[in-house]
Amino acid sequence: MLAKSDHDHGTPASASTARVSVEIDGRLCEVPAGSSILRAASEAGIGVPKLCATESLEAFGSCRLCLVEVEGMRGYPASCTTPVAAGMKIRTQTPALAKLRRNTMELYISDHPLDCLTCPTNGNCELQDMAGAVGLREVRYGYQGENHLHLEKDQSNPYFTFDSSKCIVCSRCVRACEEVQGTFALTIEGRGFESRVAASAGEAFLESECVSCGACVQACPTATLTENSLIEKGQPEHSVVTTCAYCGVGCSFKAEMKGEEVVRMLPNQDGHANHGHSCVKGRFAFGYATHADRITTPMIRKSIHDAWTEVSWDEALAYAASELKRIAARYGKDALGGITSSRCSNEETYLVQKLVRAGFGNNNVDTCARVCHSPTGYGLKQTLGESAGTQNFDSVDHADVIFVIGANPTDGHPVFASRIKHRLRAGARLIVADPRTINLVRGPHVKADYHLKLKPGTNVGLVNALAHVIVTEGLVNEAFVAARCEAESFETWREFVADAVNSPEALDAITGVPAAEVRAAARLYATGGNAAIYYGLGVTEHSQGSTMVMGIANLAMATGNIGREGVGVNPLRGQNNVQGACDMGSFPHELPGYRHISDTVTRTLFENAWHTTLEPEPGLRIPNMFEAALDGEFKALYVQGEDIAQSDPNTQHVSAALEAMECIIVQDLFLNETAKFAHVFLPGSSFLEKDGTFTNAERRISRIRRVMRPLAGKADWEVTCALSNALGYPMHYAHPSEIMAEIASLTPSFTNVSYEKLDAMGSIQWPCNAQHPHGSPTMHVEEFTRGKGRFMLTAYVPTREKASRKFPLLLTTGRILSQYNVGAQTRRTANSVWHAEDLVEIHPHDAEERGISDGDWVGVASRVGETVLRVHVTPRVQPGVVYTTFHFPESGANVITTDHSDWATNCPEYKVTAVQVTKVAQPSEWQRRYRAFSDEQAKLLAERRPARSDL
Ligand code: SF4
Ligand code: SF4
Ligand code: SF4
Ligand code: FES
Repeated sequence: MLAKSDHDHGTPASASTARVSVEIDGRLCEVPAGSSILRAASEAGIGVPKLCATESLEAFGSCRLCLVEVEGMRGYPASCTTPVAAGMKIRTQTPALAKLRRNTMELYISDHPLDCLTCPTNGNCELQDMAGAVGLREVRYGYQGENHLHLEKDQSNPYFTFDSSKCIVCSRCVRACEEVQGTFALTIEGRGFESRVAASAGEAFLESECVSCGACVQACPTATLTENSLIEKGQPEHSVVTTCAYCGVGCSFKAEMKGEEVVRMLPNQDGHANHGHSCVKGRFAFGYATHADRITTPMIRKSIHDAWTEVSWDEALAYAASELKRIAARYGKDALGGITSSRCSNEETYLVQKLVRAGFGNNNVDTCARVCHSPTGYGLKQTLGESAGTQNFDSVDHADVIFVIGANPTDGHPVFASRIKHRLRAGARLIVADPRTINLVRGPHVKADYHLKLKPGTNVGLVNALAHVIVTEGLVNEAFVAARCEAESFETWREFVADAVNSPEALDAITGVPAAEVRAAARLYATGGNAAIYYGLGVTEHSQGSTMVMGIANLAMATGNIGREGVGVNPLRGQNNVQGACDMGSFPHELPGYRHISDTVTRTLFENAWHTTLEPEPGLRIPNMFEAALDGEFKALYVQGEDIAQSDPNTQHVSAALEAMECIIVQDLFLNETAKFAHVFLPGSSFLEKDGTFTNAERRISRIRRVMRPLAGKADWEVTCALSNALGYPMHYAHPSEIMAEIASLTPSFTNVSYEKLDAMGSIQWPCNAQHPHGSPTMHVEEFTRGKGRFMLTAYVPTREKASRKFPLLLTTGRILSQYNVGAQTRRTANSVWHAEDLVEIHPHDAEERGISDGDWVGVASRVGETVLRVHVTPRVQPGVVYTTFHFPESGANVITTDHSDWATNCPEYKVTAVQVTKVAQPSEWQRRYRAFSDEQAKLLAERRPARSDL
């Protein structure tokens, strides 16, 4: 039987380095000062009964089960709330204590259903354990009196049940919601016998403020809060530590299993990124892995208007290879390319880029990071010398000022958002720069000091205004700059930002942020102590995305906020392995480890290892592939784990490019939007079906471990190897650990990384090499990776995408907590209960002007397309701005986004599209065409047939 927590010491560890000696039950123990008696005893291997205490929460002292005797102290203090003192003599086991504990347990049990044998947590219940631990054999009060056994279950939440009749009112759930999650959705209502746990104002869980993170379920010592999957499937038999496959936080989980069936995903207390916390996606939304929509047999077809033919793996791979060869022979090898995925593992991504470079013979490989964080790679490399965030997540505990720019952590990076909120409740100050009022701006016990509500597209103007204040008000950390940064680039930059055109007063008409607020925020950032910047796609997905990243790095360097705990520049990566996909050489111009393909030394290293010759010129980026396809020059694409037809901007342009190709090979779990244009479908495997590693936003490399066999028989890395072999470029690995060994041998920042080391350490933050044998939690400590930090000029250049009379509103996009990216996974789970469609948010003023009411259907038209969505009228967005998400293909959010992109990296400008919004009664023309095409593809899939001999 698996316990919810393997080694729960009852109260959090003390951070003190001082140690004190105490005597417990006659044994001398030395523990950190500030430890509770309960924890000290537990660490000494002495178990004291407890119910309301758990290691992840501050002690509360309500159950009175952990009472002890302390020499010289009157009464029986609760060991969970009593700290040790030097020389204390403690007794945990005496006849008097045993009697007291039995009496307490008797009261609990007398108001508890006697259904242990049929209870879902039977054998894994702390109440049951404690009844045994205190030796309770009878309940003298009987069960006939007043009790709570009649209370109804709340089954509104799709993932867990609240059975109030089993509640012992220990308040662990309430405290977990407050302390760990920071949502404050639960309270104890009533007093004494009437005390009950209530969600929000006595609502059903589903209707309450609860965000289904699962922290309360994990904390509950009884079966009151229980996962539905556990109720349905019974207790798990074994567990495997793995990593969440959703966002860039990279939470560690224990997949608790019954055979090859996941019973539940339990956040790993030892996980370095999440420390035992989770969000609704990683915790509960794993059902997609075994969803009926999974395609588990390879399929091929000649035309996208043909029905699919199911074939064996060998036939599919042979057909794919023959098509690639045919196209290379007819159009030249540059007509081929591949796209890696941030959802796939490092090892898989590495193999895809290797296949393209060595097997296809060109550098036409790109990744979905192109459309999210490519400006991060460019901007941080230019300024700091490394294309990655500078800190670990724990660093936020040392931040005095937290500056969130263009990110919505409570929705996009929920577990880290809880850490931010925790730090804010402890007194850190908050600045938010966002066109929209994100949840962090004002929430329970959290309030931003400044919300710089800028107009979409004016980030660089804002960062220049902040820099202007820092430079002209004498807030530069001159000693840091002199010691750590290039003098010349700094002086040039100082002169540039000091110019009056960059003053907050000159820029407020452009950014829309009052100058006084900019000045105050800049002063706080520069002088408020340790200041840490966390940013997201609201920074990168702009025509000046790379400029803004450099502007952020400039701010951090100028104020000395880099190179130690509590500070830094931290990109919050969207998908689970965005960092890893970039690290692994997915970009057309870079080999693994961010080394340019034109560098002869690096290229020779790879040529020798891969026994081939590599092209020295960068290949095509994704948008260039589309252009080349429409020009008739690019004909074949291998896409692993990405859905470019949904995720990339200007959908109609992307669809036309895909239709223009002769061979599209899609490797995925489902027949996604891109696969509707495919000729070969190779079934993918979910993270539960394979071994490998993901690298999260902190550069933390963590293992994913196989808990079930691949449903289609092959893991994704095996498919890429098989395709390469069929193509004539040999790839032979017995296990992904061998792929990692190859990566480590060729990539300086990974030299010391191995599966053995990952197993031993749990996870490793790169660089991990001779200089940093155990990894690098903080980067640029002594010097920047490039030596001296380089200040870059960041002139504000307005986007070409401008509001006009015809398109007077600016559309910006984002994501929501319950759905994830293109929604392929979360839409196939109960998460859609919270968000079943994409909505467009509009300010009440703009809505009124257009005669639009909440819930109406509206047309959203841009210069490139039009779609129809349901509207939500809310002051969350400012007048002149509308906002939507992109989780459902039929919403067509990307039908309206344009081809404008970042000047340096081509990252699309998703965050600024000029649109008009009007009330409509029917779907858009594109939506009608989309439905017809999707219906046709669904029919062709349903009509799939066994292999034909003429293919
Ligand atoms: S699931 Fe999370 S948010 Fe909901 S009540 Fe429990 S702890 Fe609070
Ligand atoms: S629901 Fe569970 S954790 Fe919450 S008070 Fe009841 S028994 Fe304690
Ligand atoms: S925060 Fe991200 S990594 Fe963690 S459980 Fe949620 S989706 Fe998974
Ligand atoms: S565990 Fe100490 S009072 Fe409950």
